[in-house]
Amino acid sequence: MPAEQVSDPSSKRDRGVFITVEGGDGAGKTTLARSLAECLGRAGRPVRLTFEPGGTELGVRLRSLVLDPELEMNDWMETWLFLAARASHVHDVLLPAIAAGELIFSDRFTDSTLAYQGYGRGLDLDRLRRLNAEATNGLTPDLTLLLDVPAEVGLARTRARSSVADRIGDADLAFHERVNSGFRGLASEHAERIRLIDASRAESEVLIDALSIVNEWLDARERAT
Ligand code: TYD
Repeated sequence: MPAEQVSDPSSKRDRGVFITVEGGDGAGKTTLARSLAECLGRAGRPVRLTFEPGGTELGVRLRSLVLDPELEMNDWMETWLFLAARASHVHDVLLPAIAAGELIFSDRFTDSTLAYQGYGRGLDLDRLRRLNAEATNGLTPDLTLLLDVPAEVGLARTRARSSVADRIGDADLAFHERVNSGFRGLASEHAERIRLIDASRAESEVLIDALSIVNEWLDARERAT
């Protein structure tokens, strides 16, 4: 039997862990991901932090196009730009990091496309699922932390920290409410993967919950391998 076909009992254990952090605008994902990385790093579990749209040079350039309020595009064009950024992120960052056994946190991934372009813009969800699968080569997160905050609270937070307009953040409240209820729907559909966290609380409380979810998940995985 060729060497690559020999089943290696350590392969599952050596594979990296891919965790995503999702939520509506202003839910506090970026702050949480940074704090988690700091705490886990101190506990001897170094984390690679990455984000979408972005994560690669191509992704960062696509991000500036898709969020540019001066550019007009229809909802599918917007979707293709997010998907192109994702394909580059998966190919250049996520798959190599997973193969290298890293612990990865991505600020947004496929669920954002379903919530924003599917539930928010009203595009066909099954088509978006198929396109996500193509852009990611079938890669799905091991665990997703979903930060849930009422849309008006999230938007007030983002508007307080930046006056720079962005094509999606500036959409109306009803759009952001559809996005949030879409995220909650995804959490009940994928209860085994997506953990809902009440993010209207203080940052420290959100961090405690998120840390205990991640640590429990990592411990359970260690016991299973
Ligand atoms: P992000 O930088 O995470 O914004 P914020 O920190 O304000 O939440 O994401 C930028 C915007 O892109 C955000 O409004 C969500 C949107 N987005 C989509 O609409 N679809 C997607 O697939 C992704 C990844 C992001």
